[in-house]
This record gives sequence, C-alpha cells and structure tokens, in this order.
Amino acid sequence: MSSIVCHPILNTQNGIATDAKIKKQRPPPLVVSRPRDLIQEACEKLVISDQHLRRIMQLMEKSMEQGLATATKGVAVKMLPTYVDSVPNGTEKGDFLALDLGGTNFRVLHIKLEGKETKMTGKIFRVPESIMRGTGEALFDHIADCMAKFMEENNLKDGTKLPLGFTFSFPCQQDGLTKGKLVTWTKGFKASGVEGADVVTLLREACQRRNDIDIDVVALLNDTVGTLMACAFQENTCQIGVIVGTGTNACYMERLDRIPKMAGYVDEHGVTPEEMIINTEWGAFGDDGTLDFLRTPWDDAVDRESINPGQHLYEKMISGMYMGEVARVVLEDLARQGLLFGGHCDAISVPHCFPTKFVSEIDSDLLEDDDRTFQKTYQILEDIGVETVSANDCANVAYVCSLVSTRAAHLTAAGIAMLLNRMNKKHVTVGVDGSVYRFHPTYPKLLDEKIDELIVGDIEYQLMLSEDGSGRGAALVAAVATRLKEEKLAALGKK
Ligand code: GLC
Repeated sequence: MSSIVCHPILNTQNGIATDAKIKKQRPPPLVVSRPRDLIQEACEKLVISDQHLRRIMQLMEKSMEQGLATATKGVAVKMLPTYVDSVPNGTEKGDFLALDLGGTNFRVLHIKLEGKETKMTGKIFRVPESIMRGTGEALFDHIADCMAKFMEENNLKDGTKLPLGFTFSFPCQQDGLTKGKLVTWTKGFKASGVEGADVVTLLREACQRRNDIDIDVVALLNDTVGTLMACAFQENTCQIGVIVGTGTNACYMERLDRIPKMAGYVDEHGVTPEEMIINTEWGAFGDDGTLDFLRTPWDDAVDRESINPGQHLYEKMISGMYMGEVARVVLEDLARQGLLFGGHCDAISVPHCFPTKFVSEIDSDLLEDDDRTFQKTYQILEDIGVETVSANDCANVAYVCSLVSTRAAHLTAAGIAMLLNRMNKKHVTVGVDGSVYRFHPTYPKLLDEKIDELIVGDIEYQLMLSEDGSGRGAALVAAVATRLKEEKLAALGKK
C-alpha cells in the first residue's frame, strides 16, 4: 500500500476554499499537495473546453441531420417524428387518463383540464426489476393491473371511457399519434418481446386479457413531448422539451421541409402541417463513435458494465442513472493509484454503491458548507464503508463530483444551444424536467450559463421547469388531439 502525506488544504487563498469559486462550481484550480496535483492531472479529461463543446454541437447537428434524412436503423440519433404538430392554445378542457412509464415507477393519473386549471389524482406503482427485465407480457399485465386498481378506487371503471394519453419514455418509431414500435429499450429495461412491437397494441391486449377495463388510447408520447406541451400550456413560446433525469433526451419543433424522411406526408385529413415535434433521442448521440474523442476510460468502464453496452453513450455521460457510477469509477481508479483513502479501494469498488444523489449531496457540501467541514461527504464515505477518510479525501472527492456534474451540465448545454441555434427563433422557452435538473444544487445554473455562452446571434431563451410534463403533458396531447380532430371534422362538414 502506498503511503500518502496529506496536507491540510482548507484555508488556502487560491484553492478550493475560495468562496466565489466554489459558488460557481468551477473546478478548483489549486495545487495544494502532491496527491491533489496528481488528481487534477488524472482528471483533466473530465473538463471539456468551449472549443470541444462547439465541436460537439457541430457533430450533433450532423448526426441529427442524418436522423432526419433517413428512417434506417443505421443512424445513431433517431430523430423520431411524434405526430404532434400543434401546442396547446389554452382552451383545452375535459377529463383524461394518463399513464406514465419511463423509470422505476409507473403512474396512473386522472386529469381534469379546466382553462388554466388542472386537477390531478394519481397513484404511483413500483415496477420491480424482475418485471423490467422479464417478459413483455408480464410488464403490460402489470401496467393493466395497476390501471384497473386505480380505476376501481376512483370509480372510473364504468361509465364513459376517458381518452387516454400514454407517456412511454423510450424511443418509439411512430407512424401516427396512437401507434409506435419500440426501437430499443433504454434505462435498464429489457422486457422481452417488446422491441419492434407496437406498444399501444401490447397495452390494449393486456387490458383485453383481463376483461374488466376498456381503454381509448388517443395519444402515445415521449416524456420530452409531455414536458414541452406542459410548458407550452403556460408559456406559448415553448418549443423545446428536455429531460435530465434517469435518462436524458430532447424534443423540439422542426420545420417539415427540413425532415426529408417525411417528404410527402399528409395527415389523415389531407393536411401537411408546417412543423412537427421531433423526439431526437439524443441519448444515443455518439453510438457511432462520434464522441470517442472525449469519452474517457471511465466512461468505457461504465458502459461495459451496463445492460446495453455501446448504446446511449451521450446519456451515459450525463443522466442520473449513470452520473454517480461515473464518479465512483473515477474515485475507485484514484484510490487504486493510492491518491485517495490511503489507497484503500475495497468499499469504493462495489458497483453502484455511489448513486447520483450522493453527487448532489457532496456538491451541496461544496456550495453550502462555508467552514469546509464536508460533513455530508464524510457521512457518505463512512456509510459506504470507506476506511480511512481524511479532510483532503473529502475535498478531493468533492472535486471529482463537481467535475463529473459540471461535465454533464456542459454536455447538455451543447445539445440545447445547438437546437436553439438551429431553430434560430427570436425567443424560445425551453421546458426542462427530470431529477438531475430538479435536485442537483448547481446543475441548472451551470447549464444556463453555458447555453448562454454557446448560442450565437441575438437569440433569446429561457429555461422553464416543467410542472409534471409526463402526466399533465399526456393529458394535453390527448386534449389537443381531440380538439384538432373535432375542429377538422367540423371544417370538413362545412365544406
Ligand atoms: C431515455 C429514453 C428517452 C427518454 C429519456 C428521458 O433516453 O430513450 O425516450 O425521453 O430517457 O426519460
């Protein structure tokens, strides 16, 4: 075991203890001791320069253009048409059911839209790992079972069938608002027999199997689309929806004349819309090797051990399902090199022992703890069983966490800034949701500051926290679909 001399680092002038620097969460530039010096050197690869961020923007736009041009499987960024071509106009009304599947929880909601008011009743059900990774039939039976329970408890089983919006937060190749084939599972799901199948049919079949509930699916949507719609309901300049939660993804309003793969498209009423929301599925950016120039051996390690190696590489550098694990493998590596924890690496080597909420808590220590006691950081390291923890270790662990979360925010900023530049509209609101955006102490600020640096021209934008896009957004998509159908039918009747 290598021995390490730890120097106190906590009250230096130009070091990590400088308040302003910590508040901005900039990587602390200090060399206070040999280990810190070496740690800084080892972690250099986690800092992405603005030049590299601009290169990422160019490469991402190129990948997106490939996705817009062709529907073939070969492209990394799928750019999936959503068949949602209008945002709410604020007059949407009525009673809807919403289903929300996209992570470890599944939700059923009953939503009443009344002008700007929304009333929601809902229930959250867990999706056990055995179901996430079992058969598709068992997964959809579980969903139908949860729905039946909710409908029973809320007296919704008999009487009028409510229109249902199904938020299914995985890549779906849609060919209409109510049909979509799952392209590939992401975020740890692996239920068999679903990839390539229409998920709305699977849901209907599961309901038919149990014979006691009848449903009317009027919209299938991604959570990014729900987020965009929920924000657009409040602020009609919202044209981009972003999720940074378990996974990451974005959708935006694209001009139809820039979607070659939709050439000649007319809707069921014979109309070609001017624009349509595209679900980018940007999480898969880099799956063709485009991001290799800045992926690190730590990113490789996280990817290798994941359930879907080689897939969703951009997501694996950003989102909540992976951020903690990236930080953990960096810490493990540093401990193995004798630069942390006196070289003890057993505890930190346990996969997934360092969830993303630890990164948030440790980053809060940096932000809030003026005396640099690193109380939460000590506690966390102790809880996971790290033996000898010094003050230096805590500062260095916090340093690594801030680098990993800053990198995630900057990579996301590159994606959003690219979309803003591409859309080139005067004022755009970006609806954002997801646990990383909501709960990480500095992520929103880091994201906002970097977008501001990366946009060009006189574009103005604002980030807006979405209020439950996956639930309310589903009801809104269902409501807009119902309204447009009625309007179009009325117009046809008049002709
Ligand atoms: C994953 C899914 C995507 C979803 C995102 C956020 O990237 O593939 O569809 O929008 O997670 O939940």
